[in-house]
Amino acid sequence: MNSSFFDIRPETPEDASLINAILDEAFGLTRMTKTSYRLREGSVQAPDLAFVAELDSRLVGTIQFWPVVIGASKHALLLGPLAILPAMQGFGAGLRLIEHGLAAAARAGHGLVVLVGDAPYYAKAGFRKLEGDVQMPGPFNPDRLLCHELIPGAADGAEGMMLAPHRTEGL
Ligand SMILES: CC(C)(COP(=O)(O)OP(=O)(O)OC[C@H]1O[C@@H](n2cnc3c(N)ncnc32)[C@H](O)[C@@H]1OP(=O)(O)O)[C@@H](O)C(=O)NCCC(=O)NCCS
Repeated sequence: MNSSFFDIRPETPEDASLINAILDEAFGLTRMTKTSYRLREGSVQAPDLAFVAELDSRLVGTIQFWPVVIGASKHALLLGPLAILPAMQGFGAGLRLIEHGLAAAARAGHGLVVLVGDAPYYAKAGFRKLEGDVQMPGPFNPDRLLCHELIPGAADGAEGMMLAPHRTEGL
């Protein structure tokens, strides 16, 4: 099996419970303690930028993007969660979802995508370490804070606290 066996389609509201089941299986139930979850709390995911992977009409993977603001003025998308059902991992669905999501984000005019994750994996999709003094609202390993520029130079000058957009109001 290879990545062409998977169909990628937009997420719909009816997918919610299956997506949660995949996230629980892929990350375990402690997933909600992660700093990335703090950035999504009370926020709304980026419209039209959530996709699922299916194999024979069965949902096996999920990717979402959430808007964030770095240092009160630099807008970016936070990639995640990304998860593939354990039995379906290693067949290319993850990279297909990332590439599909990045292409859609670029078409929508976004310039910068960030995430906290394994650098060796995300390097396969063009991510690199985000340079600059960027903080998050919780613990994280700076070596795992990665970025992908959809518009060249979009990461330049990234500095300050990363927050959900609604938390920057009044800053
Ligand atoms: C990480 C994850 C999304 C990858 O999706 P996937 O469909 O299994 O991965 P793909 O098939 O697209 O890519 C496989 C390639 O990535 C590599 N890879 C997978 N996970 C990796 C990791 N954590 N670090 C480095 N390389 C990794 C594989 O070795 C393989 O390399 P190859 O093509 O050279 O053989 C999936 O394994 C998963 O859901 N894991 C649990 C949840 C998770 O960790 N999510 C990411 C949050 S940072």
